[in-house]
Amino acid sequence: MTETNSSDDCGGCTLLGRREFLRDAAFAVAALAAVGGTAGAMPVHFMNAIAVRDEMATYPFPAVDGVYIDSKKEVIVSRSAGQVYAFMLACPHQNTALRWNSKDQKFQCPRHHSQYKPDGTFIDGRATRSMDRFAVAHEGSNLVVNLDKVFEQDRDATGWKAAAVTA
Ligand code: FES
Repeated sequence: MTETNSSDDCGGCTLLGRREFLRDAAFAVAALAAVGGTAGAMPVHFMNAIAVRDEMATYPFPAVDGVYIDSKKEVIVSRSAGQVYAFMLACPHQNTALRWNSKDQKFQCPRHHSQYKPDGTFIDGRATRSMDRFAVAHEGSNLVVNLDKVFEQDRDATGWKAAAVTA
Protein backbone atom coordinates (compact mmCIF):
# COMPACT_ATOMS: atom_id res chain seq x y z
CA MET A 1 0.00 0.00 0.00
CA THR A 2 1.30 3.40 -0.96
CA GLU A 3 1.62 5.93 1.83
CA THR A 4 -0.35 9.09 1.24
CA ASN A 5 1.29 12.37 2.01
CA SER A 6 -1.50 14.89 2.07
CA SER A 7 -0.88 18.08 3.98
CA ASP A 8 -3.51 17.30 6.60
CA ASP A 9 -2.53 13.66 7.18
CA CYS A 10 -0.39 13.75 10.27
CA GLY A 11 -0.24 10.01 10.84
CA GLY A 12 -1.67 10.26 14.34
CA CYS A 13 0.83 12.86 15.48
CA THR A 14 -0.12 15.24 18.27
CA LEU A 15 0.38 18.93 18.75
CA LEU A 16 3.40 19.75 20.86
CA GLY A 17 3.10 21.44 24.19
CA ARG A 18 5.43 24.27 25.18
CA ARG A 19 7.74 21.95 27.18
CA GLU A 20 8.13 19.60 24.22
CA PHE A 21 8.67 22.54 21.91
CA LEU A 22 11.43 23.95 24.10
CA ARG A 23 13.04 20.51 24.31
CA ASP A 24 12.93 20.29 20.53
CA ALA A 25 14.28 23.83 20.29
CA ALA A 26 17.28 22.92 22.44
CA PHE A 27 17.84 19.85 20.29
CA ALA A 28 17.54 21.94 17.16
CA VAL A 29 20.20 24.32 18.43
CA ALA A 30 22.54 21.37 18.90
CA ALA A 31 21.65 20.06 15.46
CA LEU A 32 22.18 23.47 13.94
CA ALA A 33 25.63 23.60 15.42
CA ALA A 34 26.37 20.20 13.94
CA VAL A 35 25.51 21.21 10.40
CA GLY A 36 26.45 24.86 10.52
CA GLY A 37 30.07 24.82 9.48
CA THR A 38 29.95 23.86 5.82
CA ALA A 39 32.27 25.98 3.71
CA GLY A 40 30.53 28.40 1.37
CA ALA A 41 27.19 28.12 3.11
CA MET A 42 25.26 30.55 5.26
CA PRO A 43 26.67 29.92 8.73
CA VAL A 44 24.63 29.60 11.91
CA HIS A 45 25.15 31.96 14.82
CA PHE A 46 23.55 31.85 18.24
CA MET A 47 22.46 35.05 19.89
CA ASN A 48 20.41 36.66 22.61
CA ALA A 49 18.41 39.82 22.32
CA ILE A 50 20.33 42.86 23.54
CA ALA A 51 17.04 44.29 24.80
CA VAL A 52 13.43 43.15 25.13
CA ARG A 53 10.77 45.68 25.96
CA ASP A 54 7.03 45.40 25.45
CA GLU A 55 7.50 42.35 23.21
CA MET A 56 9.98 44.24 21.05
CA ALA A 57 13.23 42.25 20.84
CA THR A 58 16.33 44.10 19.68
CA TYR A 59 19.31 42.40 18.04
CA PRO A 60 22.47 43.70 16.40
CA PHE A 61 21.66 44.10 12.71
CA PRO A 62 23.28 41.15 10.92
CA ALA A 63 26.35 42.39 9.06
CA VAL A 64 26.75 39.32 6.87
CA ASP A 65 24.53 36.64 5.36
CA GLY A 66 23.69 33.86 7.79
CA VAL A 67 21.15 32.35 10.13
CA TYR A 68 20.96 33.74 13.67
CA ILE A 69 19.12 31.82 16.38
CA ASP A 70 17.69 33.12 19.64
CA SER A 71 16.37 29.95 21.26
CA LYS A 72 15.18 31.82 24.39
CA LYS A 73 12.81 34.04 22.42
CA GLU A 74 12.26 31.33 19.75
CA VAL A 75 13.31 33.65 16.95
CA ILE A 76 15.28 32.93 13.80
CA VAL A 77 16.85 35.87 11.97
CA SER A 78 17.97 35.21 8.43
CA ARG A 79 20.03 37.52 6.22
CA SER A 80 19.98 36.36 2.63
CA ALA A 81 20.03 37.94 -0.85
CA GLY A 82 20.02 41.48 0.47
CA GLN A 83 17.11 41.04 2.85
CA VAL A 84 16.73 40.38 6.58
CA TYR A 85 13.82 38.41 8.02
CA ALA A 86 12.77 37.22 11.46
CA PHE A 87 10.85 33.96 11.78
CA MET A 88 9.20 31.98 14.50
CA LEU A 89 11.43 29.04 15.38
CA ALA A 90 8.35 26.78 15.29
CA CYS A 91 7.37 24.98 12.11
CA PRO A 92 4.02 26.35 10.91
CA HIS A 93 2.65 22.83 10.53
CA GLN A 94 2.77 21.51 14.09
CA ASN A 95 5.14 23.65 16.08
CA THR A 96 8.30 21.57 15.87
CA ALA A 97 11.52 23.56 16.16
CA LEU A 98 13.01 24.07 12.71
CA ARG A 99 16.63 23.41 11.82
CA TRP A 100 18.95 25.07 9.34
CA ASN A 101 20.84 22.84 7.00
CA SER A 102 23.84 24.83 5.78
CA LYS A 103 24.81 22.16 3.28
CA ASP A 104 21.48 22.34 1.45
CA GLN A 105 20.86 26.01 2.27
CA LYS A 106 17.36 25.50 3.61
CA PHE A 107 15.38 25.21 6.79
CA GLN A 108 14.11 21.74 7.57
CA CYS A 109 11.54 20.35 9.95
CA PRO A 110 12.65 17.14 11.69
CA ARG A 111 9.07 15.99 12.35
CA HIS A 112 7.41 15.75 8.95
CA HIS A 113 10.29 17.02 6.82
CA SER A 114 8.87 20.24 5.48
CA GLN A 115 11.53 22.39 3.84
CA TYR A 116 11.82 26.14 3.46
CA LYS A 117 14.09 28.58 1.62
CA PRO A 118 16.29 31.08 3.53
CA ASP A 119 13.53 33.67 3.13
CA GLY A 120 11.07 31.25 4.75
CA THR A 121 9.28 30.28 1.54
CA PHE A 122 7.75 26.81 1.69
CA ILE A 123 9.41 24.30 -0.65
CA ASP A 124 7.98 20.89 0.16
CA GLY A 125 6.43 18.80 2.93
CA ARG A 126 3.29 18.66 5.05
CA ALA A 127 3.19 22.32 6.01
CA THR A 128 0.60 24.37 4.14
CA ARG A 129 2.32 27.73 4.32
CA SER A 130 5.74 29.34 4.52
CA MET A 131 7.52 30.02 7.80
CA ASP A 132 5.76 32.57 9.96
CA ARG A 133 7.45 35.98 9.89
CA PHE A 134 7.61 38.64 12.57
CA ALA A 135 7.34 42.33 11.76
CA VAL A 136 10.85 43.79 11.65
CA ALA A 137 12.43 47.24 11.55
CA HIS A 138 15.97 48.46 10.94
CA GLU A 139 16.73 51.03 13.65
CA GLY A 140 20.26 52.43 13.58
CA SER A 141 22.63 49.49 14.00
CA ASN A 142 19.89 47.22 15.31
CA LEU A 143 17.13 44.94 14.09
CA VAL A 144 13.94 45.29 16.10
CA VAL A 145 11.57 42.32 16.02
CA ASN A 146 7.96 42.75 17.08
CA LEU A 147 7.18 39.47 18.82
CA ASP A 148 3.50 40.41 18.98
CA LYS A 149 3.13 40.84 15.23
CA VAL A 150 3.29 37.58 13.33
CA PHE A 151 2.39 37.22 9.67
CA GLU A 152 1.06 33.91 8.41
CA GLN A 153 1.47 33.69 4.66
CA ASP A 154 -1.86 31.97 4.00
CA ARG A 155 -3.83 34.56 6.00
CA ASP A 156 -1.97 37.73 5.04
CA ALA A 157 0.19 37.24 1.97
CA THR A 158 0.80 40.97 1.56
CA GLY A 159 1.87 41.46 5.18
CA TRP A 160 4.04 38.35 5.05
CA LYS A 161 5.80 39.53 1.92
CA ALA A 162 6.42 42.97 3.41
CA ALA A 163 7.87 41.58 6.66
CA ALA A 164 11.51 42.15 5.70
CA VAL A 165 14.10 44.92 5.70
CA THR A 166 16.85 45.64 3.24
CA ALA A 167 20.29 44.52 4.39
S1 FES B 1 5.70 19.78 12.29
FE1 FES B 1 4.94 18.78 10.53
S2 FES B 1 6.20 19.51 8.90
FE2 FES B 1 6.95 20.54 10.66
